[in-house]
Amino acid sequence: MKTSSELEIKQDVRKFYDDIGWQEIGEGVYQNARYEDLRPVSWEYIHKCHLRVGRHLIPEGRLLLDAGSGPIQYPEYLEYSQGYQARVCADISIVALKEARQRIGDRSSGGSGLFVVADIANLPFRRDAFDGVVSLHTIHHLPIEEHKQAYQEVYRVLAPTNSAVVVNGWQDSVLMRYFVRPIKWRNRTRKRIRKSIKNLRDGRSNSSDTGPKPKGKGTFVSKHDAEWLKKEVGSLMQVEIFVWRSVSVRFLREYINPDLGGKWLLQKLYDLEERYPHFFGEYGQYPMIVIKKD
Ligand SMILES: C[S@@+](CC[C@H](N)C(=O)[O-])C[C@H]1O[C@@H](n2cnc3c(N)ncnc32)[C@H](O)[C@@H]1O
Repeated sequence: MKTSSELEIKQDVRKFYDDIGWQEIGEGVYQNARYEDLRPVSWEYIHKCHLRVGRHLIPEGRLLLDAGSGPIQYPEYLEYSQGYQARVCADISIVALKEARQRIGDRSSGGSGLFVVADIANLPFRRDAFDGVVSLHTIHHLPIEEHKQAYQEVYRVLAPTNSAVVVNGWQDSVLMRYFVRPIKWRNRTRKRIRKSIKNLRDGRSNSSDTGPKPKGKGTFVSKHDAEWLKKEVGSLMQVEIFVWRSVSVRFLREYINPDLGGKWLLQKLYDLEERYPHFFGEYGQYPMIVIKKD
């Protein structure tokens, strides 16, 4: 049985995506895209990383499940189901599914989509139903106790001999730790200096500022590390960790500058990731977890 806090987490996540995450802020651009680096300098790198997912799916089949589909927000996502008769979008957010339906149309009106409000930890589909499964940036929204169950569900509905691809960030990427720490330190120092200046101007002392901090605008997220995945999920099914994208959005925004060879740097990084996909998958920010079912 689910505890009330587990149910509350899911309700909060759903509310966040219905009311905020999947509200359009521009044509085909959702509020959620503020978690992505949309600058032209990073476009090619990000585009090629998205396409990595398709490599591990069989190119043609009957049904592809997109678990936590959102509105299928990036054009590259459409590539994954190109050779499939239908793409089944499952999500707890009805707003996401309505947007996804606008994008690919439903089967009854000649489109390629089927849309189901569903929880990835309790999928309402029969065993072996899908020729391919993708789940991108979704499992991390579950209460931590349900992550394993979600992987088991993905595995259960996947047809034998086929593969599923799951993308989620690591809790603490070894590579990003070294790059992001100095940024955090710099930002904290800047903030402190600004606060001190403001307090001096207002004639207050630093210690008097103990009011409540504003609440962040995001929603619930919980993540694991590679050890957890290998031990807890790897003992139940065959999993292999590849790189999806080894750098975070924060890294891109801070270190990739169009005027300082940013595009070239990302090309070199992409080449390295291609050469050492397991290393960058395990130590970078975003792994691509490929699940095979014999
Ligand atoms: C960060 S978005 C990712 C959407 C899409 N996969 C992408 O990569 O753009 C997470 C999505 O997962 C959905 N979601 C969150 N918890 C879920 C759950 N327990 N079951 C199914 N979908 C869920 C949210 O509603 C949201 O659409």
